[in-house]
Amino acid sequence: MKIDIIAGARPNFMKIAPIIEAIKHTDPEQNRLTYRLIHTGQHYDKKMSADFFEQLGIPEPDVNLDARSGTQAEQTARIMTRYEKLLLETPADLCLVVGDVTSTMACSIVAKKLGMKVAHVEAGIRSYDLTMPEEINRMVTDSITDYFFTTSEVANNNLRKAGISEERIFFVGNTMIDTLLKNRPRFTPPPIWEEAKLEKGQYIVMTMHRPANVDEEQKLKRFMEAILNNVHGLPVVFPVHPRTAKMLDRLGIEADNLHLIGPLPYLEFNYLVENSKAVLTDSGGITEETTVMGVPCITLRDNTERPETITEGTNELVGTDPAKIAPALERVFNNTWKTGSIPEKWDGKTGKRIAEILKKLGNISA
Ligand code: UD1
Repeated sequence: MKIDIIAGARPNFMKIAPIIEAIKHTDPEQNRLTYRLIHTGQHYDKKMSADFFEQLGIPEPDVNLDARSGTQAEQTARIMTRYEKLLLETPADLCLVVGDVTSTMACSIVAKKLGMKVAHVEAGIRSYDLTMPEEINRMVTDSITDYFFTTSEVANNNLRKAGISEERIFFVGNTMIDTLLKNRPRFTPPPIWEEAKLEKGQYIVMTMHRPANVDEEQKLKRFMEAILNNVHGLPVVFPVHPRTAKMLDRLGIEADNLHLIGPLPYLEFNYLVENSKAVLTDSGGITEETTVMGVPCITLRDNTERPETITEGTNELVGTDPAKIAPALERVFNNTWKTGSIPEKWDGKTGKRIAEILKKLGNISA
């Protein structure tokens, strides 16, 4: 079975790494799996892409569709037309997509229309918030997916409710956590560690890039003020996503304890998270990583597609009202934040489970 593995944006790279690794290690005697790695080029800056390939030992992509920036529709259209052209020239049997980014949806549509099977890793999760492009991407992708690889029982139930039959749902765990556990011993301090004289448990990490939080200048300003006013003077380290950078530049916010830095490579970013007092974020994936590392996580969103990070993990939704930040930080500072546990099958073996299932599917289709 010829598999196209699709990766487009930063949060995809840690999800594909363990799958590629596991496919490479399946028994070559009985192995009918071959794969081609396709980078859509949705993220193209070295810091958003190449650094991750290098640190995580992901092989060079076989193809780069070079989609780059644009509106959602422009990006989607470029990825679709270029992937379709590639498939018409050199077809494959299965398109494996991960996560919920524009590339995930775009490639699954093209593959399905050309009669290929689609496998979705991290299928079935839902925020039911259709103002988020990621939710639309998830819903569209899952509506045409053949094989659903899931991270949680909640995701399984969402799929069952949508009428997906049991034999197409594979509860395998979380590939992002495979990458985290494998690389945890290699985490390494970024230059800001020395520059800002950071100390374990004595600083806050924040990330923010959702359009709903950063595209409105005054809202972003209020967020920043609420955070800086309630961290008791501790350093706040903020590796800034390109989308947020444009807005922050205009706002010109400055404070002695605010460290705005560029996007960090994987090993450096997670070193900072692991050793921080708490993380403030509007990301989804980071809430999973903080759950596994036991770091308090304050999520600046009204909903989440990853409820297990709240019911089981260290995450809490405080919403998008800057006024909610102070009470949440207060609980971090008076040490009453919950401790949490690690969700089922987030054990570092998900890539292997996926490769085993793909092998069986390959044998059936051969
Ligand atoms: C995308 C994903 C989001 C994910 C995030 C993580 C979608 C719909 N969203 O959002 O789920 O959490 O990535 O990073 O796919 N840019 C650069 N350099 C780059 C990449 C982007 O400068 O390497 C700029 C773009 O020009 C654009 C902005 O950043 O102005 C946003 O990039 P885009 O890929 O459209 O979406 P993200 O907000 O990154």
